[in-house]
Amino acid sequence: MSQDPLFAMAKAAMERSYSPYSKFPVGCAIRTTSGATFCGCNVENASYPEGTCAEAGAIAAMVMGGEATIQDIFVIGQADGLVTPCGGCRQRIREFSTPDTRVHVCGPEGVRGVMSFDELLPHSFGPEHLADSKDGQETP
Ligand code: THU
Repeated sequence: MSQDPLFAMAKAAMERSYSPYSKFPVGCAIRTTSGATFCGCNVENASYPEGTCAEAGAIAAMVMGGEATIQDIFVIGQADGLVTPCGGCRQRIREFSTPDTRVHVCGPEGVRGVMSFDELLPHSFGPEHLADSKDGQETP
């Protein structure tokens, strides 16, 4: 089966990574439900906590493109095994996903695993929980 073009997009994004401190380049590519595509890489900083993940960059590009629902997300890193999105990024992805959003976990040679978002982050918290909260608390 031929490789999804989103893999090459994520890999090209990883090659743009600015990661001189961790030396761990990461790339991310997103396809939205309308078919639009966006990508991002991790961008580190001498003040370490200010660095941003590849997924955050791709999501910011998607929002700037006027899109809000992720159908497929590809994440690529160079470690052995499955380089899955970090905990913070799982929550970032959650904001713009459905339970069926497909998460493609990649290494430099190709896709290593595919899972639904709900498999990656079961029982997750999202925007609809806030909508359900009604007027639980008085404003001061
Ligand atoms: N990183 C990502 O870009 N995405 C993840 O989901 C995991 C971690 C980046 C952050 C940092 O620049 C480097 O990988 C090492 O943690």
